[in-house]
Parts: sequence; structure tokens; C-alpha cells
Amino acid sequence: MSAGILGMGKFIPEHVVTNTDLEKVMDTSDEWIRTRTGIEERRIADDDTDTSDMAFAAAEQAIQNAGLTPADIDLILVATVTPDHPFPSVACLLQDRLGARTIPAMDISAACSGFMYGMVTAKQFIDTDTFRHVLVVGVEKLSKITDWEDRGTAVLFGDAAAAAVLGHVSDGKGILSFELGADGSGSKYLYQDDKFIKMNGREVFKFAVRQMGESAVHVVEKAGLKKEDIDYLIPHQANIRIMEASRERLEIPEEKMIKTIQKYGNTSASSIPLALLDAVESGQITDGDLIVMVGFGGGLTWGALTLRWGK
Ligand code: UT7
Repeated sequence: MSAGILGMGKFIPEHVVTNTDLEKVMDTSDEWIRTRTGIEERRIADDDTDTSDMAFAAAEQAIQNAGLTPADIDLILVATVTPDHPFPSVACLLQDRLGARTIPAMDISAACSGFMYGMVTAKQFIDTDTFRHVLVVGVEKLSKITDWEDRGTAVLFGDAAAAAVLGHVSDGKGILSFELGADGSGSKYLYQDDKFIKMNGREVFKFAVRQMGESAVHVVEKAGLKKEDIDYLIPHQANIRIMEASRERLEIPEEKMIKTIQKYGNTSASSIPLALLDAVESGQITDGDLIVMVGFGGGLTWGALTLRWGK
């Protein structure tokens, strides 16, 4: 038995903000955003919807799709850098909202790599039979820390949540290998000051291209697989040019890379699970497919894993 995904859920805010909408409020253009990032539109949550509300909607759906109830969950991990409050954690708010038992609950701060950190942490507890079912949520309301006067960051981000319940799956399925890492010396390139996201785009770009490619190759090797075995690559949806670089490094064809950046922008911790769920719901990813997921983010952090889809 190994650890894999039993069910997933998501929350996508209704309000769509297109590149053309942004052209009206800042010095940018649809053409620049599309060609430099691949983003066409993003979703922005309304004022009444905070991070825990989005997490709750996604989590409820994931638990239901796993065929479970909140009482079956043994641990809650929420990957986010936009919690409702510095504390209590979103995970604690979520535990209460779900009506789960008094199980452990904590947030993970690893920015866009957060969901990878969450999956790998869940795996440790499941593999050791410490916990049976772990709820992992990737959720961000980045719009509340976005500086709408800074075109270098404002055009990139979106709000969303995606959740997965992890538990035992049959042999050969689930998480086959993983890699996590961090390099705090790069913390100056991507961070939040008193209020807003600050970024040195070029430095983050260079790091991402190198790290995503390397980590993706490492996890494939660690699983004893070859690049040809990969059915789908799900890179963190930050910039189409970074995503393409990791695809080329893995030498896999265009149609094998899952791409949702055009409709959601960069949703940080929720980007990878959201892309995965989209591909599962559309019927693209099916039982037995071998998936490579790879993310990078503020910290700087990174995380990658190989997952054989199915229970
Ligand atoms: O989840 C992790 C989060 N971070 C990332 O993934 C960011 C990684 N970095 C990137 O994706 C890219 O560096 C950006 C998309 C942020 C920027 O693309 P770039 O090709 O590195 O552009 P640049 O920063 O080198 O800027 C090129 C030009 C500059 O103008 P000048 O100096 O050449 O006249 C910028 O001022 O583009 C200008 N620019 C814009 N123009 C129109 C920057 N942002 C915009 C904008 N609209 N929104």
C-alpha cells in the first residue's frame, strides 16, 4: 500500500478579471501579459470571501468525493501564504467549520510549493500508519496582498482553492517519489513586506527554470522511471515560459503538459492541485496515468513528486 489521492475538490471565485480589464486600470496590455506570461484571465474573490471560506468549499467537496465524512479525517494541512489571520491557522478554522474531530491542524508556509510540501508531509503519516486520511488544501487569496499599482506583479496572480484527501491506495499507485528543497538565500527575491508581494521577476524566473527542470528529472529518476514513462507533467502555473522550459527539460510533447494558467493566472499553493483536478474532470488524466508535479515559490522553495493516478 502507498499514499495517494482518494478525492479532490476546488473553489474558483466567480469574478473574472481579464487582461483587457487590467489595461483599463494600469499601464499594461493584453499582448504583453499573454506573450510574457501566458495568462488571459484570472479569478478574484469578493471582499466577503476569505481564504478559509475558499478552503472550506474545496475541502468539503474533496471529502465527499473521497466517499468520506469530516469525521474520517485524521490531520488537516493547509498550504497558504494568505491566511485569514497570522493565527489561528486556516487549518484550525477549517477543522471547526468542517465539524471534524479535534485532530491536529496546521498551515504550511512554502508559498507556491506549499501543496507539494503538504502532499509529502501527508505521505509520511500515511506510510507509517500514523494517520489514515489526511486533508491537504492549497488555497490563496493573493488579491489581498497584491499591489494594484505594481504592474510587474499585479497581472500575474489569481485567487483559488483546491483540496485533496490522501490515504492508502493500491500498490504501484499514489506517490512514487518526491523531492523537497529550500534556499533561504533567495528570500530577497520574492516576499511580502508590510502589505504587498514584492518580486524580482527576472531572478525568480532564472531560479524557476533551473530548479523546476532539475527537480522534475530527479523525481523521475528516484522512482526508477524514464522520461518516456511520463503521461502528464503538471508544473506550477506561474509563467508559460517557465512551464515550457521544464517540459523541454523532460523532453515530453506539448499535449502532455497540463496548462490552466491562461484561465486562472498564478494561484500559488492552489495552482498544481487545481490543474490536476481540471485534467481529471475533463477526462484527460485517467486511472493509471503517471504524473510528474513540480513547483517552486517564495522562500525560495521547491517540491516535486511522481504520482500514479488512481486508487
Ligand atoms: O509563483 C512564483 C511567482 N513568480 C514568478 O513566477 C515570476 C517569475 N518571473 C516572471 O514570470 C517574469 O520575470 C515576469 C512575467 C514577472 C516579467 O517578465 P520579463 O520578461 O522578465 O520582463 P521584465 O521584468 O524583464 O520586464 C520587461 C519590460 C520592462 O520594461 P523595460 O524596462 O524593458 O522598458 C518592464 O517594465 O516589461 C515591462 N513590464 C510590463 N509591461 C507591460 C513589466 N510588467 C509589465 C506589465 N505590462 N504588466
